Amino acid sequence: MEIETFTQSFSAYFNAKPQFIARAPGRVNLIGEHTDYNDGFVLPMAIDREVWIALAPRTDSIVRIRSLDLQVDAAFDLHSFAKGEGWIEYVKGVAYELQKEGCALRGFDATMTGDVPRGAGLSSSAAVELAAARAFAAVSGFPWDAAKMARISQKAENEWVGVNCGIMDQMASAASQKGYALFLDCRTLEIQHAPLPEKISVVILDTSTRRGLVDSAYNERRSQCEEAAHWFGVKALRDVGMEALKKGEGKLGKNIMKRARHIVTENMRVLEAVQAMKAGDVKRLGELFNASHASLRDDFEVTNKALNQIVECAQEQSSCYGARMTGAGFGGCAVALVEEQKVDEFVNAVSAAYKKKSDLEASVYVCKPNAGADVIM
Ligand code: GLA
Repeated sequence: MEIETFTQSFSAYFNAKPQFIARAPGRVNLIGEHTDYNDGFVLPMAIDREVWIALAPRTDSIVRIRSLDLQVDAAFDLHSFAKGEGWIEYVKGVAYELQKEGCALRGFDATMTGDVPRGAGLSSSAAVELAAARAFAAVSGFPWDAAKMARISQKAENEWVGVNCGIMDQMASAASQKGYALFLDCRTLEIQHAPLPEKISVVILDTSTRRGLVDSAYNERRSQCEEAAHWFGVKALRDVGMEALKKGEGKLGKNIMKRARHIVTENMRVLEAVQAMKAGDVKRLGELFNASHASLRDDFEVTNKALNQIVECAQEQSSCYGARMTGAGFGGCAVALVEEQKVDEFVNAVSAAYKKKSDLEASVYVCKPNAGADVIM
């Protein structure tokens, strides 16, 4: 949306001018899957699909937001929090956690819009959380600290909304830099901006299947990883290397061993991927993508048929350097690295091949690396 159109829609609704516009992006994870809650490494990229909030301060403690996309209003009081339902809970949860951290918040009127596909695994909820955090920072006048705001947003999601996610999505939405992927150490929250290779397109392939039963399966993977870490006598699987991993063979349960192997090898792949990116070695980067998918399919077992099919369709194209499922898995999206010049051809060929193989329609997003949450007005 244009800033002007968005400003006008605020004015039309509230009969006043907005004072700020805050924005925050969704993300796609390039590599490093299920490693975040193992204190490991991830390499997500903020995408050029965002949530926008236009706002003006109120004199009381009410936060009132009009969703332009859903055509509904929601409101809550910063002095009396009560759990409810729907998208407003992400905003409310962030406000609740911000106040718990000692931030004095002001109420505001706002309109909200966005183009991050919902429920596709592109972190539309993290985008809402970080846009809300940015909005509160702007209107209440406290400084922006990306890592702190990501932690607070994650807490909102874990404790207020009740989704047990790691820190990756919120950090990607908070701290990314335009043109770069975000290399993140999930233990220390140290970041490095990793340059995307030139003449490459990042293509998101949505299988159009959705992650049924994901919460229980996601939580099961988390406890299996914890069980493995406990067996190895470490705080998190981040602390297990290839040599140590071998000691588990024949001793750890078969599935627990497979889960551990995915995490250990995936962490190594992320570190290598960062080096490959710095060296502009797209070929190696693509190979790491393919290896990551195989590991998620065979060891971590979080792909579904549609994800495997769409990844195969992508990998079969000569313009594709590598492809893998991205996000939590069990449905949702894959990500492919494609020769920029041949991207249209790639999109058409994969869509047709996937349709033929699965009888499903894919949605495809060719994405550019975007900047993290900020205030644009
Ligand atoms: C979801 C979670 C993230 C991360 C990924 C898997 O997207 O929100 O924290 O665990 O799954 O890599």
